[in-house]
Amino acid sequence: MGSESFLKDVSLAPGAPEEEPARQYYYMALLSDLVSQRAKEIGRDLTACVVTFGCQMNARDSEKLCGILKKTGFVLSEDENSDFVIYNTCTVRDNADQKVYGRLGVLGNYKKKNPGMKIALCGCMTQEASAVEKIKASYPFVDLVFGTHNLYEFAELVYKCFSKKGMLVEVWEGTDRIVEDLPVDRKYPFKSGINIMFGCNNFCSYCIVPYVRGRERSREPKEILREIEQLVADGVVEIMLLGQNVNSYGKNLENGITFAQLLREVEKIEGLHRIRFMTSHPKDLSDELICVMKESKKICRHLHLPLQAGSDRVLKTMNRCYTKEQYLALVEKIRKEIPDISITTDIIVGFPGETREDVKETIDVIRKAQYDNAFTFIYSKRTGTPAAKMEQVPEDQVHEEFDEVLKCVQDMARERIVRFEGRVMEALVEEENTGKNAADALREMGAKEGEILLTGRLSNNTIVHFPGNASQIGTFVNVRLDKCHGFYYFGHIVTEQNA
Ligand code: 5AD
Ligand code: SF4
Repeated sequence: MGSESFLKDVSLAPGAPEEEPARQYYYMALLSDLVSQRAKEIGRDLTACVVTFGCQMNARDSEKLCGILKKTGFVLSEDENSDFVIYNTCTVRDNADQKVYGRLGVLGNYKKKNPGMKIALCGCMTQEASAVEKIKASYPFVDLVFGTHNLYEFAELVYKCFSKKGMLVEVWEGTDRIVEDLPVDRKYPFKSGINIMFGCNNFCSYCIVPYVRGRERSREPKEILREIEQLVADGVVEIMLLGQNVNSYGKNLENGITFAQLLREVEKIEGLHRIRFMTSHPKDLSDELICVMKESKKICRHLHLPLQAGSDRVLKTMNRCYTKEQYLALVEKIRKEIPDISITTDIIVGFPGETREDVKETIDVIRKAQYDNAFTFIYSKRTGTPAAKMEQVPEDQVHEEFDEVLKCVQDMARERIVRFEGRVMEALVEEENTGKNAADALREMGAKEGEILLTGRLSNNTIVHFPGNASQIGTFVNVRLDKCHGFYYFGHIVTEQNA
């Protein structure tokens, strides 16, 4: 097990240190001993499976969990019938909660067959007291419940959980703490997410995030830059800067740095090819940011700019702090400065009090803003948010409007994406496409013997599939976009360009 060399210098003699991250390294050393002991007893490695629900933030958190699991000797697996299963949950909409409860039932059955199995829950759902109560009452076989604020304590919590029987619940209401320098196991060797801030201060009236992720905290720019430099030295060519509202980055920092200034610094890192970021609140998107994006050679030509609703009245009750006109003016300004940019959005249908007229306003914005893609959601009541106390629109009454909005968005996206047909664009090759239609696709593309189907991502976030070979994964290639298939392209490599 590769953990020993990494942890052998950790001194266990004086007991657990108070300071972080030393305390977690101490617990990693203890956990590593415990894991190898158990592995000897059962005559095989201990397996661990991390299942991620929800957004990019959770995906990044899961990489942190995997980093610690790997360092302490667990063998990571995709199979939920593992010795240790961790559900990193989402609670942004009720169906995310229901998915977790449904799958927990299945896990309970696995555990009956493997009583040594441990089950942990973390993420946004566990920050809600009602969810924790439900888990205690209905899923007593869960061994560990922890929240978003103490994720950095994972090694300590797992060690404690594996050393005792019964459910360990450790959820904090908030924190102002950011612990750096813990291990991370990246899903992709060549691209990575990076948290630049945690939490949200916006309190959109429908949204549970500020309650479960806490107040906005920005990481120090030097920590962010150091992490990116290390990632680049480790082979990363594309990064995604992550925050609930990246445009308000730096507001709680003493040096008063803005997001645009941070981007300028990130741009200077040699060897880094592409910069993405997510998510931008329209109310905080500055001219300085547009200017930095326009001048940049590395910032991708993609902006995710959640609209949520098109009617001024609904926007006001949502507490979004912009009007339809202001939003459209912003989109126009961005498109004027950066004509080749792709703009995507999030839309909610069925917010309390939303009428047919209001939905028409949303559709009007979709037509005018010309989105390249949009995620459309049916409003979901989240207990504890201001919107939960407003008069709700019954869900069965909004399906028609939802379908109408979805159709409009999809028609628009199809119309927009086709504009690149025939162009040659640079793609980062992300993976082999092993889908059931891969062989047919290769035939349609006239692939040569031995070629596999690769999937790449363009700067504007569009996906393109083309024939190639496995050694090209993680590199940049120039691809001719031969045929648009709805939301993605079929293409072929024209000249190779090394990353
Ligand atoms: N119901 C439906 N959609 C929601 N979102 C956030 N909260 C809710 C809710 N209560 C959507 C918003 C946000 C995206 C991440 O999730 O559109 O931008
Ligand atoms: Fe939720 Fe609004 Fe914060 Fe986004 S900006 S996380 S929608 S409260």
